[in-house]
Amino acid sequence: MGGVEVHALRGVDLKVEPGEFIAILGPSGSGKSTLFHVVGGLTPPTSGIVRIEGQDLAGMTERQRTELRRHAVGFVFQKFNLLPTLTASENIEIARDIAGNHQPLSHYFKEVVKVLGLSNRLDHKPYALSGGEQQRVAIARAIVNHPRILLADEPTGNLDTANSELVLNTLKQLNEEFGQTVLMITHNPEAAEFVSKRRIEMRDGLVTHDDY
Ligand SMILES: Nc1ncnc2c1ncn2[C@@H]1O[C@H](COP(=O)(O)OP(=O)(O)O)[C@@H](O)[C@H]1O
Ligand SMILES: [Mg+2]
Repeated sequence: MGGVEVHALRGVDLKVEPGEFIAILGPSGSGKSTLFHVVGGLTPPTSGIVRIEGQDLAGMTERQRTELRRHAVGFVFQKFNLLPTLTASENIEIARDIAGNHQPLSHYFKEVVKVLGLSNRLDHKPYALSGGEQQRVAIARAIVNHPRILLADEPTGNLDTANSELVLNTLKQLNEEFGQTVLMITHNPEAAEFVSKRRIEMRDGLVTHDDY
């Protein structure tokens, strides 16, 4: 940053089992988002190893990493990042197109849309949706290609209490009913407690607490 080296992560050692729901807490600047970028193959670490399902990301070609992001890992951000000119279903569909997924929508996905309470909202554009609905569309988009891992970076950061509860319930249900592995960053200890048995705390680029 301006010629100054910033160590966003400084020796994080973390192992996540399939089907876990992990809540990550920590002050702003502690390296939480960077951890997600590294885990999702968006940012290569300057040192250390990241393995997804036993596969070392550094050993992959750029193309393989892109495939990984399209199929193995789904992202949900604090900002919903929906395309404003597309309807909810088109926003979801475009993620399938990009991944080259031309299969009919699966039973699983239809179930998830029901769980998300979006069945009657699919033809609306983002401006006609509440914040909570937009975030649930973003979750549907993140999981439509069946990622094994869902990374949610402060998914309730822009939501009021009622909408936060809806989104947290959705993530919890995805994990409990469909076995989705979820890692969620949050500022809210109550939210962490509600969704997850395993809480991780970060500070200054280090994991300072892990229930594992
Ligand atoms: N692209 C970047 N260039 C330089 N510094 C960065 C960059 N991204 C993040 N940082 C720095 O790395 C540290 C960790 O940031 P981040 O992972 O965003 O933390 P958190 O998500 O916990 O708030 C912070 O000091 C931040 O300023
Ligand atoms: Mg962050």
